[in-house]
Amino acid sequence: MRPMATDPNRFQAIISHCKEYGFIFPSSEIYDGLQAVYDYGQWGSELKKNIKDYWWKSMVQLHENIVGIDAAIFMHPTIWKASGHVDNFNDPMIDNKDSKKRYRVDHLIETKAEEMRNEGRNDEADGLIDEMDKLLSTDDFDGLRQLIINQGIKCPISKTANWTEVRQFNLMFSTQIGSVSDEASEIYLRPETAQGIFVNFLNVQKTGRLKIPFGIAQIGKAFRNEIVARQFIFRMREFEQMEMQYFIRPGTQKEWYESWKEERMKWHLSLGISKEKYRFHDHVKLAHYADAACDIEYEFPIGFKEVEGIHSRTDFDLKNHQEYSKKKMQYFDSEINQNYIPYVIETSIGLDRMFLLIISEAYAEEDLSTAEKQDSRVVLRLPSKIAPMKLAILPLVKKDGLPEIARKIMDDCKTHFRCFYEEKDTIGKRYRRMDAIGTPFCVTVDQQTKQDNTVTIRYRDTMQQERIPADKVREVVLKEINT
Ligand code: GAP
Repeated sequence: MRPMATDPNRFQAIISHCKEYGFIFPSSEIYDGLQAVYDYGQWGSELKKNIKDYWWKSMVQLHENIVGIDAAIFMHPTIWKASGHVDNFNDPMIDNKDSKKRYRVDHLIETKAEEMRNEGRNDEADGLIDEMDKLLSTDDFDGLRQLIINQGIKCPISKTANWTEVRQFNLMFSTQIGSVSDEASEIYLRPETAQGIFVNFLNVQKTGRLKIPFGIAQIGKAFRNEIVARQFIFRMREFEQMEMQYFIRPGTQKEWYESWKEERMKWHLSLGISKEKYRFHDHVKLAHYADAACDIEYEFPIGFKEVEGIHSRTDFDLKNHQEYSKKKMQYFDSEINQNYIPYVIETSIGLDRMFLLIISEAYAEEDLSTAEKQDSRVVLRLPSKIAPMKLAILPLVKKDGLPEIARKIMDDCKTHFRCFYEEKDTIGKRYRRMDAIGTPFCVTVDQQTKQDNTVTIRYRDTMQQERIPADKVREVVLKEINT
């Protein structure tokens, strides 16, 4: 296994860039922020929407047997009993008695393993993770505490190893619905979008006349009271998921699980990201609903981390909803003349994590110095199809009829894709600003345009420029963003 490449400086630079260029702001910043909650700014929300659309298109539009829904965040509280989240959606936590800070046990141990890898002690790190996985899979909390103590793991705040016992901590947020504050009105903010799909399974199947195998997809907010939430948008308390539940005949789960693993990895690679940056990680400790599960991990600047989960969820959810709701969750399979509760393969990707992945992959600091002068740029090499802004239209000067020509190009393009118009500052500064938000094309309108109706098109990644007819701009950009 090659050493884990972590680069805290690069991670910090990406966070700063996201703020400086209107991608992501800390939530409620003027009140000093709210931990692990973030707002997407003007370019961030645009990029996020493009990632969503790209996922939706590949999952729903390109699969005839997958449909999408948009379920409510508030759901009947019994759903979370049936799904197992009330009893099982816990993380083992440990508190440091001196700093009074609480930590997720697995995060403390993973950080230690990462330190070992950074020192080249890869075998030791692998051994530590294996031991942790074993203890987690048997809920051996005393063993986990002992492991933390044996490894000399200290609280990053107090720098002491004065630890409490390991305890379970439920991650769901609860709130009250209605005006009477009794126990019956307590509800939860959904910790996953999947349950909205399960409880609508028969509504969708019947009204859509769907035959197994078929899928239901959904994009929406989920909420978890994460304890250690200090990795920017990697781990948030309010985040978005893009999930798909694929309903199948019992007994076919192994082949569908493998097939969705492959298909989802292809989706990631279709964004032009190299294979080496990805790996699968099989779960040792399975979630309460799964008979097989793995993560798709990406090598973030903070190391290889989960971006998507593929889970074989058996009939766990539908069976439990049948039991708790007393409503039949069965499907009649006319091909084999049998009634059964379908099995489910789930693909679940965090939209915010995918955003972080895309930005991490795209962010580049380039030295452009020549013998004559020092120069550099920060560029987001975003895939054109998901870049927030596709084209910048820049008249070289604010006079001589150039803005009018530029506006015409803008009018020709803006109903087809997102365009940006700017007259201010030198052309060099305007290019740099577009590089920093990842705009793949800039066109400049100059005096020559008035003579031969050509413009200069500049390509973000190569910075090369060429002259093309002004009335070809739309076609050139459309060709690129549609491939
Ligand atoms: N329905 C299955 C499910 O929710 P999960 O592995 O807990 O499975 C799926 O979550 C994905 O949601 C993860 O792979 C991750 O990308 C994203 N995710 C989970 N917790 C998150 C958090 N606190 N902040 C941001 N994304 C999160």
